[in-house]
Amino acid sequence: MQKKRVVVLISGGGSNLQALIDGVQAGELPVEIVAVISNRPGVLGLERAAKAAIPADVLDHKAFTDRESFDRALMEKIDSYSPDLVVLAGFMRILTPEFTQHYLGRMLNIHPSLLPKFQGLHTHQRAIDAGESHHGVTVHFVTAELDGGPSVVQAWVPVLAEDDATSLAKRVQRQEHIIYPLAVKWFAQGDICMQDGKCVLNGEPLPPSGFLIRSDEP
Ligand code: GRF
Repeated sequence: MQKKRVVVLISGGGSNLQALIDGVQAGELPVEIVAVISNRPGVLGLERAAKAAIPADVLDHKAFTDRESFDRALMEKIDSYSPDLVVLAGFMRILTPEFTQHYLGRMLNIHPSLLPKFQGLHTHQRAIDAGESHHGVTVHFVTAELDGGPSVVQAWVPVLAEDDATSLAKRVQRQEHIIYPLAVKWFAQGDICMQDGKCVLNGEPLPPSGFLIRSDEP
């Protein structure tokens, strides 16, 4: 069977991109990462792509006067690679409805919180400030609502008394690097799809949290 074609969008370090590259290289992830596109030049994620011999492209949002024209140019660039799936991996842009509609059901995002809690930025500090016993990360299908589409998989980690945002972020990131390759694998195998605003896994609609993975190791 033809491997699914994946375009990964990044804005920075690309550790999630690296987890996907590692999965492909280990033969565990049946996809081809056909391109990596960054909206910021000079970021580490672009080097990671180059090292893995993946075509890497920059489309700098600063060269555009408005969000609509940037998103249109980005769509054109993405579509030139004919992807089956678009993966947002630390892509720090708010997307236009036209963009999210165009990739509806074939675009995933990773957000470092147990959605619907803590949409937006600074999620680790906010979870600590709110006195949460658990925090985590969610992979979800992207819809027009920011950090709001149906969850595919969510990993929970404990918040420890001695945690600061950095230590908590590290614990969450370990889970990110497990659940993003898992979600992409499910998509590639045809195990998941988005239906009636829900994620369906092997024919069963998932609960709003998505498939749940709990890790109580610090
Ligand atoms: C991750 O924490 C992800 O959850 C969030 O942005 C960060 C990206 O990290 N959306 P990296 O660039 O993959 O290292």
